[in-house]
Amino acid sequence: DMVRVRVPASSANLGPGFDCIGVALNLYTEISMGFVEDGLLIEVLGEDYKDIEKNQDNLVYRAAKKVFEKTQTDYTGLNIKIKVGIPLGSGLGSSASAIIGGMVAANELIGKPLRDDEILNLAASMEGHADNVGPALLGGLNIMAFDGAVTYYIRKELDEDLKFVAFTPNRVLKTETARNVLPAKVDFKDAVFNTGRSSLLAAALFSEEYGLLKIASQDVLHQKYRSKLIPEMYKCFDKALECGAYFAFLSGAGPTIMAVCSEESADKVVEGVGSVYKSMEIDYRVYKLKCD
Ligand code: HSE
Repeated sequence: DMVRVRVPASSANLGPGFDCIGVALNLYTEISMGFVEDGLLIEVLGEDYKDIEKNQDNLVYRAAKKVFEKTQTDYTGLNIKIKVGIPLGSGLGSSASAIIGGMVAANELIGKPLRDDEILNLAASMEGHADNVGPALLGGLNIMAFDGAVTYYIRKELDEDLKFVAFTPNRVLKTETARNVLPAKVDFKDAVFNTGRSSLLAAALFSEEYGLLKIASQDVLHQKYRSKLIPEMYKCFDKALECGAYFAFLSGAGPTIMAVCSEESADKVVEGVGSVYKSMEIDYRVYKLKCD
C-alpha cells in the first residue's frame, strides 16, 4: 500500500527576513511512497521532471532515509512517485517540498513514530535553514529561528485576500549559486537596518497593517547581491509597487519575483510586471497564489 502526501510551495525571506521568514503557498507537489520487496523504483510525473534523479541521490529518497534511520526501520525496497507541481530551482521551495514530502510520507508509512517538530528539525538540518521546510510542513506564515538543531517558530494564517503573485522565469537558479554571491561579512549598519525591517515586517503581517509593508520589506542583506544573477529584479519591484502591490521581493534564492497585493490590484500587477519581462525578452510564468 502506498501513502500519499501533498506538500505546498513556499516563499522564503519576504525581503529582509533572510533565512527566518517564510510562507506556504497553494501550489503543490504530491509524493506517494510504499514498501516493495527489493530495490528503489522512482517515478516522476510533471513538467519539470528532467533533472530529477531516479536513484539513491534523489532528494525525496534521501529525506525518507533520514526518517528510517532515526526510527531504526529496516527496509529492503521502496517505491516513490513524485508528481511535480512546484517548478524546480525557481525559488518556490521545490527542495523543501521534496524533503518534507519524503519525510512525512516515510513517517506515515511506518505508523507516524515521529512528531511534527522532530520532522521539522530533521528537515531544517538537512536543508540548512528552516524558512522553506517550516511552511512546507506547517503551512501559513512562519517566523523562525533555527539554531542548527532546533527550530523555534510562530505561525499564522494570512488573509485569503492577500495575493502572492509569483513571476517565475523559465530558467533554473540553484540556491547554492545564489548563496555563493553573498558576502561573508556585513556592515553593522546593514545588520541594524535588516533587524528593524524584518521585525516590522513580522509585526505588520501579524497585525495586518499592510500599509507598513512597503518600508518593512526593505532589505540590504541579500537581494542587492543577488540582483547580478537576476537583472530584472529591481525593475520588477518598482513596477509591482507602481501597479499597487503592497510589496515585492525575491522569492527565496530566486529567480522568482513575488508581488504581494490585494485581489483588486492583482490583474494590474500581473500585466505591469509582465511587461518588464516582455521588454527584457525573458520567458516567464505567472502563478496567482495565496497563503496555504
Ligand atoms: N533563505 C534561503 C536563501 C531560501 O535565501 O538562500 C532559499 O533556500
